[in-house]
Amino acid sequence: MITASAPGKIILFGEHAVVYGRPALAVPVTQLQARVTVSENSRGGVWIEAPNINLSSDIALLSPDHPLAAVVLSVFSSLNVSQPPACTIYIQSTIPVAAGLGSGAAVSVAILRALSAYLNQPFPDEQVNKLAFEAEKLHHGIPSGIDNTVVTYAKPVYFIKGHAVKTFHVGAPFTIVIGDTGISAPTRESVRMVRKLWDSDKSRWEKVFDRVGEIVWNARQAIERGDPVDLGNLMNANQGLLQKLTVSCPELDRLVEAARRSGAYGAKLSGGGRGGNMIALVNKENAPALTEALKAAGARRTTITRIE
Ligand code: MEV
Repeated sequence: MITASAPGKIILFGEHAVVYGRPALAVPVTQLQARVTVSENSRGGVWIEAPNINLSSDIALLSPDHPLAAVVLSVFSSLNVSQPPACTIYIQSTIPVAAGLGSGAAVSVAILRALSAYLNQPFPDEQVNKLAFEAEKLHHGIPSGIDNTVVTYAKPVYFIKGHAVKTFHVGAPFTIVIGDTGISAPTRESVRMVRKLWDSDKSRWEKVFDRVGEIVWNARQAIERGDPVDLGNLMNANQGLLQKLTVSCPELDRLVEAARRSGAYGAKLSGGGRGGNMIALVNKENAPALTEALKAAGARRTTITRIE
């Protein structure tokens, strides 16, 4: 029996613009985890058991495009396994699905690690990242690759599509409160909506992406300096541009406003938007009070995470 796990993630700055070649900053969230166990079975076949999504099936009965089946099949084909051993792939996750927290990428990464190790040929991180990116295309359509990268390497990343992975230095630890609207919002949909906007007026939206790119660059400097005031202002500016891109929604706006009113340095949506989660930068001491304020404003769930 082999078990592997992978963390969730939040995008601090630069979602959506990252699909168009601008930089973005993301960090892992280790409080949220996908966990995959592969074990021998006696009934034959390769079974996927994913109680969170009510799935229990032999992969032979799933479409090869099913995101979970596709990851499993990619392991067999990469390792030239034509007759896989009878086994059960058991998937558990505490990462909410379709919430902008990297659930799809984390499940893919955990499957790739657990199954390759079960077959006695554990993949190196580069291979995990590459195959998880292929799976992301099934989840997201035209992903930038940031989710699979931050989840695979489980460290802060300064990410530009198609470039080597870079991490960044955190000058002074900071605290983020994550607030969940409870609205399920597949990233594929919001990425598609932004693509429609971009198609309708490329030069206008390219300018917006340029401004996001500048914010990301300044945010990286502020993180390295350990300057929460600047960082909070930059989060607010990024949120303004995300609203322009139509990926916020009233429930996200309400949580962002509540966070700012309750003393957060800044707040914004995180991930695909149109639901899912927002993040607020706070003083460590202020985090419990902010959590209460977010709950009062409709957050279904909150998570406090430290970036260090
Ligand atoms: C999703 O976590 C971030 C997006 O920018 C999509 C992507 O980069 O693939 C919305």
